[in-house]
Amino acid sequence: MEKNYQLPDRAAERNRVGSAERRSYTMREDLRFLGHGKTYYIRTYGCQANVRDSETLAGMMERMGFLEVDKAEAADVVIFNTCAVRKAAEEHVLGEIGALKPLKQRHPEKIFALCGCMAQEADMVALIAERYRQIDLLFGTHNLWQFPQLLEKAMNGERTIEVVSEGTGAIVEGMPVQRTRTHKAFVNIMYGCDKFCTYCIVPYTRGKERSRQEEYILNEIREVKALGAREVTLLGQNVNAYGKDLGLQDGFTDLLRKAAETGIERIRFYSSHPRDYSETTIDVMKEYPNIMPALHLPVQSGSNEILKKMNRGYTIERYYELYDRMKEKIPGITFTTDLIVGFPSETTEQFEETLKLVDYCRFDSAFTFVYSPREGTPAARMEDDVSLEEKKKRLAILNERIGTYARENNEATVGTVLKVLCDGPSRKNANVLAGYSEENRLVNFTGTGIQEGDIVDVRITDAKSFSLDGEAVQ
Ligand code: SAM
Ligand code: SF4
Ligand code: F3S
Repeated sequence: MEKNYQLPDRAAERNRVGSAERRSYTMREDLRFLGHGKTYYIRTYGCQANVRDSETLAGMMERMGFLEVDKAEAADVVIFNTCAVRKAAEEHVLGEIGALKPLKQRHPEKIFALCGCMAQEADMVALIAERYRQIDLLFGTHNLWQFPQLLEKAMNGERTIEVVSEGTGAIVEGMPVQRTRTHKAFVNIMYGCDKFCTYCIVPYTRGKERSRQEEYILNEIREVKALGAREVTLLGQNVNAYGKDLGLQDGFTDLLRKAAETGIERIRFYSSHPRDYSETTIDVMKEYPNIMPALHLPVQSGSNEILKKMNRGYTIERYYELYDRMKEKIPGITFTTDLIVGFPSETTEQFEETLKLVDYCRFDSAFTFVYSPREGTPAARMEDDVSLEEKKKRLAILNERIGTYARENNEATVGTVLKVLCDGPSRKNANVLAGYSEENRLVNFTGTGIQEGDIVDVRITDAKSFSLDGEAVQ
């Protein structure tokens, strides 16, 4: 285990606000030459928290002088930033790192690092340490700020495994960042999760809820805006709980208002939790036109019995109430959600309650999952009499139902003009541009002289289930 790493120079400034330890980041001067003439590649899995962490890793690599390349084979350092939320995601990563063995044998000087949520699971760490010797460096989500020192050790030939497991990682401000895009930016407002839904591994891999102090968040928004960002997404596993650990009463609503007052053109936030959603947040969304009328509000199930077993902390009636109030107060708002089918013991009737919920809410899209047991979580110990085949059948029925409403909602926009923030050429067809409307609808469109980062009026000409086609109004 690492003992003698260099603490940031300003470690004396370390303090504790709320429940979290806070640090200011400084990189040791000599590390700035570690990557001279060398290249790196980062492979990111999982949610936006990981995407943002990978931007920090890239920022550190660039500050150390490494240059980014677009494939693992061409890189001197390869980093796998992993996700543990479902078993399939983990198996995918294990498959990919397994396939690197011959490359490592041919090029022992290459460094392979693995971090992220898989690196916070004790059994997984033991498995990788023993069976995946091609991994030179493994570090957990709470060790992100120590990455340059850990990489230095690995480059000096020391196999390094560094995981802080107690789950209350420090909040480190001022870490380098290399953002994927200039015109839109992710801004963390908090880390971790205290909700302990019985199926979910995130509270174990990301630790307790810890909020960043408001001034740092607002400064980051002003900074990205000055550099050309037109949209920010405020990130947290449950943004509505922002500030609770700092003793704030209505922390998220106040933060959202202040974020809107920075004048950034578009604000989104992700993810929300029905349990902590306050009426004042709805009012602020209504008041500020730069808070986008699109809400991702995960529900997981339409059955009160299942919600209880999941420890979600709300009833389906509460969800309907929130949904109705949003639709009433914010005309045109779009709704997306997360749903799990085949939770242990879910009956056909309980699954049908989820379908009823979908019929009522007519979501614009949804992330749907077959329940995946995660070792160490309470649900993994529950009895489960639903076969995998039945679970998959339910998923297919659910997806079809969601697709139907998504298409109907999209069809209702044909002929209207939507304001689209252009992300550049579409990934599927380079002759077409792609971007997202204020309501977070994906729009593929044609037009001339339009650049990534432009906000353009697009007339919608056709609708698919999960995207729209259109032409820029020029
Ligand atoms: N914090 C967010 C919330 O509570 O809504 C979601 C975070 S989680 C990373 C994203 C989604 O993964 C969850 O909303 C849930 O639908 C799904 N998920 C989490 N654990 C799962 C499991 N064990 N099996 C299947 N899906 C799971
Ligand atoms: Fe997981 Fe629940 Fe926390 Fe979301 S709120 S991250 S589903 S424990
Ligand atoms: Fe996966 Fe970790 Fe996010 S488990 S979904 S990367 S918080």
